[in-house]
Amino acid sequence: MTTTADRTTITDKFQRPFRDLRVSVTDRCNFRCTYCMPAEIYGERYEFLPRADLLTFEEIAKLTRIMAGLGAVKVRLTGGEPMVRSDVEQLVEMLASVEGIEDLTMTTNGYLLPNKAQALRDAGLHRLSISLDSLDDEVFKKMNGRGFSTAKVLDGIAAAERAGFGPVKINSVVQRGVNDHTIVEMARYFKERGHIMRFIEYMDVGTRNGWELEHVVPADEIVAMIDAEMPLEPVEGDYRGEVAARYRYRDGGGEIGVIASVTKPFCGDCTRLRLSPEGRLVTCLFATLGTDLRTPLRAGASDAELTDLVTKVWGVREDRYSEQRASMTEPREKVEMYHIGG
Ligand code: GTP
Ligand code: 5AD
Ligand code: SF4
Ligand code: SF4
Repeated sequence: MTTTADRTTITDKFQRPFRDLRVSVTDRCNFRCTYCMPAEIYGERYEFLPRADLLTFEEIAKLTRIMAGLGAVKVRLTGGEPMVRSDVEQLVEMLASVEGIEDLTMTTNGYLLPNKAQALRDAGLHRLSISLDSLDDEVFKKMNGRGFSTAKVLDGIAAAERAGFGPVKINSVVQRGVNDHTIVEMARYFKERGHIMRFIEYMDVGTRNGWELEHVVPADEIVAMIDAEMPLEPVEGDYRGEVAARYRYRDGGGEIGVIASVTKPFCGDCTRLRLSPEGRLVTCLFATLGTDLRTPLRAGASDAELTDLVTKVWGVREDRYSEQRASMTEPREKVEMYHIGG
């Protein structure tokens, strides 16, 4: 452990520093993406977490201050869909003033942005990543499980632009035979509009999406498809732990990213810690349980005690699931992705 002034750097068993905190503010979502919350499982009667179980904004802000003291410089709000949590902009405002947090961002499906983008911007949110799996309406309607048209998300992207979010990142999860034939069209559309398109290899997160390796389109294949139409060249990664491999268009028209979590895992540089809606600390996207922080928090634990707890959790961390995936023979229990955020 090294300390500079009142800021500490903690490292795990593989010497990876803690840098990014991803906060899931709700396990609910207004979409039912087939690869995340399939509608046949998450129906009317599915029981999401009761309100009293969720961390309050004050509790999240307190924990974020503690994490910032331990080296977190980046906070991403996720869900579920973060905007289905009422007044999430109030949380943004609280987190924007936490000392040490240099980058405050949110991952959203964009549906509620037309009403919220300006409030989020005013509250101090720096950046937005908006999920959109295809521009083809029929494909998108099937993938989001609710029959929502792409127009809804495009309105959200337009609202983000108007609110001053500038270029946003557009995330698309690629599934073979589902949306891979729409990749080049999407890349072209967002190239022309100056946004950063990012294609994500479909992952075996959670236990309910029936993932199979043959549904994954390798990032190299995605890059080759786009490069054949609009030539690309690689950009050097700009910080340790970046998940996306970046490519720029040779004609100077912006860049794309591909996230090769299956074919080229990036666990070696993983600096991410996740906080679940009910206050569990989860050290890997593929973890099973996590460590309960809510109980000590509500029992009145001091900042020093909570700091100690987080330090211990990070100190024993040895997760590298994506690197081990290929050699694992037994299926294992995992948390669901909508519960801890993408
Ligand atoms: P920027 O801060 O804008 O660079 O975003 P990011 O690179 O942190 O990416 P983002 O949070 O938008 O994550 C994009 C996607 O990458 C997620 O939706 C996941 O599919 C995947 N991803 C993010 N973090 C991890 C991780 O720790 N492990 C794995 N296996 N996949 C991850
Ligand atoms: N594989 C890859 N990414 C996923 N996401 C959700 N489920 C998966 C999965 N199975 C990511 C998507 C979405 C974000 C919320 O989480 O990028 O945009
Ligand atoms: Fe909701 Fe995102 Fe999961 Fe889709 S991927 S169901 S938008 S949390
Ligand atoms: Fe980090 Fe786990 Fe993802 Fe590997 S699989 S990059 S350890 S969250």
